[in-house]
Amino acid sequence: MEQYVIKGGNPLVGEVDIAGAKNAALAILAAAIMTDETILIENLPDVRDINVLLEAIAKIGAHVERIDRSVVKINGSTIGELSVDYEYIKKIRASYYLLGALLGKYKHAEVPLPGGCNIGSRPIDQHLKGFRALGAKVSILHGAIVAEAKELKGSHIFMDVVSVGATINIMMAASMAQGRTIIENAAREPHVVDVANFLNSMGANIKGAGTDVIRIKGVEKLHKTEYSIIPDQIEAGTFMFAAAATQGDVTVRNVIPKHLEATTAKLEEIGCQVEEFDDAVRVVANKRLRRTHVKTLPYPGYPTDMQPQIAVTLALAEGTSIVTESIFENRFKYADELSRMGANIKVEGNTAIIDGVQKLTGARVSAPDLRAGAALVIAGLAADGITIVDDIVYIQRGYESFEEKLRSLGAEIEKVSSEKEIQKFRLRVG
Ligand code: EPZ
Repeated sequence: MEQYVIKGGNPLVGEVDIAGAKNAALAILAAAIMTDETILIENLPDVRDINVLLEAIAKIGAHVERIDRSVVKINGSTIGELSVDYEYIKKIRASYYLLGALLGKYKHAEVPLPGGCNIGSRPIDQHLKGFRALGAKVSILHGAIVAEAKELKGSHIFMDVVSVGATINIMMAASMAQGRTIIENAAREPHVVDVANFLNSMGANIKGAGTDVIRIKGVEKLHKTEYSIIPDQIEAGTFMFAAAATQGDVTVRNVIPKHLEATTAKLEEIGCQVEEFDDAVRVVANKRLRRTHVKTLPYPGYPTDMQPQIAVTLALAEGTSIVTESIFENRFKYADELSRMGANIKVEGNTAIIDGVQKLTGARVSAPDLRAGAALVIAGLAADGITIVDDIVYIQRGYESFEEKLRSLGAEIEKVSSEKEIQKFRLRVG
């Protein structure tokens, strides 16, 4: 088992390049099998979730050729299996995007039902409601979702909750349905737009992505394309908060500043200076930050995937902050770990009340999930002394070369896999 060992206290200073968006890439890779022609995808992040999904895609028979770390070619003409293994869905829920992709292309798909996960219960009723509205028969058999249709027919679908996954899954299937589909109350996240742009570049006819009404005119066939994935706004935001929490000065490059507006606004509110360039954002923190309140919401609101990172930063800010999580029910699991580092954080229901402290002190903590894990690393970078973060496998699901990028900004962080290596690090950093 690997860990991060961190000696805190260095302000992060410098420039860092952001990888492609994991959550856009997961859907785009699944959608890439919807044609028999070859698709080339660029700006792919080299993270575990992506690599597992590529394995799942290869396992159903598609040809997957990794050209380099950030480029892959996929050809779906050799798919021989319309059923995805539980092994993959267990590792990444997003393999459920193969449901919409296979159903759209072959009118048949079998994907194991994903269970709950670390951040709470994660129903997929809206995905299934959408497939049914398109005329598919959807049943649960032996733990798997089986969706099939003689033909898919466009429909007018009103989503009961704003769901990124359901919007994308329905958009994929509807791209190859007969006639027109309208998705109302659709998610507006940048990655929904990116998937729509990708499908359109394959010949789909999708309009309105990025608004809450998406209109799709089904086409019979999709074709080859070359496509570059948008930058990861959550990775970017994580580095922006790392700069803030360590009183640093960091420029995150290869970003779309518009996608970072909710994060930028909060950083300014708590006293950081944020400068926007065409494709970069610089965050400078040169005094103690101040309290704020924040509530997570669907885009363009403040993202749930940035909730632990702001909470860690507020743990060191002056005054009392309130953080409300309105998307997932169990996204404060890191609070107890943060308390062990000296934070004053109390969770009541979906709210965390944080009384800022002057300093955090290093401790041994465990990453409970991907974003909370990254937030605990930020806490370690800002804390006095040594922090060890266990279970970094969660962090590796979504952050490319996390420790290398942090080191390039002056952080003292190492990935280790034994107590001996931890001791060596302690001796080295003194
Ligand atoms: C996506 O998950 C992201 N994952 C999550 O990223 C992110 O936290 C989340 O969107 C919200 O932005 C991927 O893109 C792979 P939802 P998703 O469907 O699509 C409820 C990360 O750290 N809901 O938008 O699964 C649901 O319970 C992560 O990278 C239903 O009730 O999220 C939640 O309360 C983890 N029924 C809300 O909607 C449904 O059928 C939003 O979930 C679907 C969702």
